[in-house]
Amino acid sequence: MAKYDLGFIGTGSMGSALATMPCKLFPEKVIVSNHTREKAEKLAEKYGCAVGCCFDAAKDSKYIIIGTLPGAVCDTITRIMPELTSAKERKVIVSMAGSVSLAEMEAISGNIPVIRIMPNTPVAVGKGLIFYCAGSLATEEDVNGLISLLSCAGAMEQLDEKLFGAGSAVAGCGPAFAAIFIDALADAGVKTGLPRAKAIRFAEQMILGTAQLALDTGKHPAQMRDEVASPGGSTIEGIQALEEGGFRAATIKAVVEAWKKH
Ligand SMILES: NC(=O)c1ccc[n+]([C@@H]2O[C@H](COP(=O)([O-])OP(=O)(O)OC[C@H]3O[C@@H](n4cnc5c(N)ncnc54)[C@H](OP(=O)(O)O)[C@@H]3O)[C@@H](O)[C@H]2O)c1
Repeated sequence: MAKYDLGFIGTGSMGSALATMPCKLFPEKVIVSNHTREKAEKLAEKYGCAVGCCFDAAKDSKYIIIGTLPGAVCDTITRIMPELTSAKERKVIVSMAGSVSLAEMEAISGNIPVIRIMPNTPVAVGKGLIFYCAGSLATEEDVNGLISLLSCAGAMEQLDEKLFGAGSAVAGCGPAFAAIFIDALADAGVKTGLPRAKAIRFAEQMILGTAQLALDTGKHPAQMRDEVASPGGSTIEGIQALEEGGFRAATIKAVVEAWKKH
């Protein structure tokens, strides 16, 4: 059995965000590594997980999570391949790179299975979305093992690889879009008299609660809108202003433009 369940190679923004919840909840099962070692050491100091170099992470872990920039993913896999192929236990390569396909990785990963994942920034607080697709050599057991380890970071959803760009544009870029909406709501709150801190807090809690309500009840967004907008009331005035301002069209365009870049 491998010494660790998760071995992170690359703990920059997304690598460290994804490592946070596993490190908090089961640090003894995690080893982290990064090109500039200090970044990985910070996680190890904070949470008590192990720290090493990329070869340690590859040699001693069951799932090797590659969090380097896309341009370095294949080179990293090639460098760690001797550690993976010489191991007695089963290893799985997991990549979070936006633009490196399973086929590109499988062309260099020999008989080591590969899984692609796409996390978003809320994984750092256990509220992320991680969608995934498994390569041809990854078994159901490989996938289920990864799900059980990463579910603490967010909901895990299988997604066809050809839809990764669309999924990333909605759920990966989405936190930035949602943050702008929260910021704008807070500005509006300030304009109408709320203290800034309260305005931000109200906007954040409202977005959180609205999403939770939708998830828990399964209600369609249009139904949720209709339940708030009473006839002749204030909400419908606001909805008209949003429509006149092109809110819906701008949101659709934001996602489509982001998708074009994937
Ligand atoms: N940011 C997002 O919202 C997001 C969302 C989903 C997926 N992703 C994917 O996540 C990956 C990382 O993105 P990021 O935003 O986290 O970038 P980032 O902050 O630049 O992190 C990349 C990290 O990889 C390290 N690194 C580079 N080469 C390495 C190597 N050979 N061995 C070990 N570590 C190495 C870098 O270390 P140094 O700084 O020391 O060079 C850096 O800490 C990308 O593939 C991206 O497509 C990002």
